[in-house]
Amino acid sequence: MGCILYTDNYKILGIDTSCDDTSAAVITAEDKILSNIVSSQSDIHKRYGGIVPELSSRRHIEMIWPVVNEALNRAKTSLDDIDAIAVCYGPGLIGSLLVGCSFAKAVGYAKGIPVVAVNHLEGHVFSIFLGKERPDFPFISLIASGGHTSLYIVNGFGQYAELGRTRDDAAGEAYDKVAKLLGLGYPGGPIIDKLAKDGNPKAFNFPRAYIPGPFDFSFSGLKTAVKLRVHDLEFKGQNKKMGLLNDIAASFQSAVVDVLVRKVEWAIVKRAIKRIALSGGVAANSELREKMLEMAERRGVDLFLPSPYLCTDNAAMIAAAGHRHFTAGNVASIDLNPKAYLPL
Ligand code: KG4
Ligand code: ZN
Repeated sequence: MGCILYTDNYKILGIDTSCDDTSAAVITAEDKILSNIVSSQSDIHKRYGGIVPELSSRRHIEMIWPVVNEALNRAKTSLDDIDAIAVCYGPGLIGSLLVGCSFAKAVGYAKGIPVVAVNHLEGHVFSIFLGKERPDFPFISLIASGGHTSLYIVNGFGQYAELGRTRDDAAGEAYDKVAKLLGLGYPGGPIIDKLAKDGNPKAFNFPRAYIPGPFDFSFSGLKTAVKLRVHDLEFKGQNKKMGLLNDIAASFQSAVVDVLVRKVEWAIVKRAIKRIALSGGVAANSELREKMLEMAERRGVDLFLPSPYLCTDNAAMIAAAGHRHFTAGNVASIDLNPKAYLPL
């Protein structure tokens, strides 16, 4: 911790290497995005149906400089004009996080730029501030990604009260695992989202886990139910039916969306909060966005949705949370270490 002098028009470089995307962005203190580069590794991982951590960290090492350079070039700036570097230090894959943290500390030290450590989940929460419509505090925040599915009350910057979280798989993880068992590739979310548009959501009655919590989630039972149904269809020789994949995708998706919408609805009712913000890769889902909007209108509350490209992992969201830490004087020291497990 230290006290930092800053001006209102500073520029912050964000870096995220928490999982399988290498990302760098430059934003201003007013949350204006000057650049936001994401280099996807999905081509490397798709043949395995999920992320291979060792391949991921090796690719980050290759890509970090080119991606940061591209972000600086697109923002028409250079490291000499960067006032702070915000780096994601967890949660995530430890080898991947190490690349971003080591890079940020080395560049920060060499160029005399302060480094700010950002929790990836806090980045997702603050992705909503990169858009035109920004919520006042407090708001209910649903983070639904490949690694997390959690509900928070956000009372202000740094003031997060967790209401619930998944007890097993994250929503995005369920999408990825179902896509894998259907042989659809990785990441599963966008593929299933697309297939579901031409499917019947009532074709299969997959379970909705409204577990008592009341804000906790569970998606592993749903994934198993899809698996058992697929095996059953194969056994009966019905697995080649036209449109079957679309129907499975639509039925699975409507089970995920029903639970996410219902839990958020309970949260706004029970906590009497009038604003909802979604984030994380699953928040890019077209049906979730539509159904959440219907519910918000019915309940008379405001819904804030980041653009789909800001829902999935990106460094602009890390910079958005990062400059708030920077103005609060939360600067990391040179012994900053990444953390694979890091609650918000
Ligand atoms: O936030 P994110 O990019 O990374 C993590 O922090 O995990 O989320 C990635 C997850 C993946 O599981 C992916 O399948 C899912 O988000 N996803 C989607 C969609 N786009 C990405 N899930 C459902 N519908 C989508 N359109
Ligand atoms: Zn994420």
